[in-house]
Amino acid sequence: MEVLITADQVRARVDEMAAEIMRAYDGKPVTVVGILTGCLIFTADLIRRIDLPLRVAFITASSYRGTTTVSGLLEIRDDLLPDIAGRHILLLDDILDTGKTLARVVAHLIDRGAASVKVGVLLRKLGRQEVPFEPDFVGFPIPDKFVIGYGLDFNDEYRHLPFIGVLQPGE
Ligand code: XMP
Repeated sequence: MEVLITADQVRARVDEMAAEIMRAYDGKPVTVVGILTGCLIFTADLIRRIDLPLRVAFITASSYRGTTTVSGLLEIRDDLLPDIAGRHILLLDDILDTGKTLARVVAHLIDRGAASVKVGVLLRKLGRQEVPFEPDFVGFPIPDKFVIGYGLDFNDEYRHLPFIGVLQPGE
């Protein structure tokens, strides 16, 4: 496995992102919404560094990749989400790839009455985005490689690794 971003680099950047987020919200309450499962470790680490009135909640968003592949079909489940009407939302995900997931979830949260939605991602894959959409907080731009660790998985494995890695063929 090739290490792309070390655990120390992740820690330092998450610290900086927390500072950027505190400056942006300037003491105002924020509701953090993480997209499971990839957001898990990023969210847990980031929110412990944010000194603001804060609530945290989770949703799931999964794309259907069945026998008839219909691109862009996304199932959003928000049964665990509290009432977000009038709330300022910070939506967190592990990685921005094509942008389809985040664009759809932002629209969904606005539909549910959010006062505002800002987006934070740990990673942004360069040259992959298909949906025009700008995240507000980005940890690291990365090349177009399949990455694992720090929440990111391959077949639900590797999420617990403290660094971001790239799997080599056959691993
Ligand atoms: P879109 O294309 O909607 O996709 O921006 C975002 C979701 O795709 C998954 N994804 C990855 N997961 N390693 C992963 O473990 C990767 O390199 C990768 N690229 C995309 C991820 O679930 C993300 O939320």
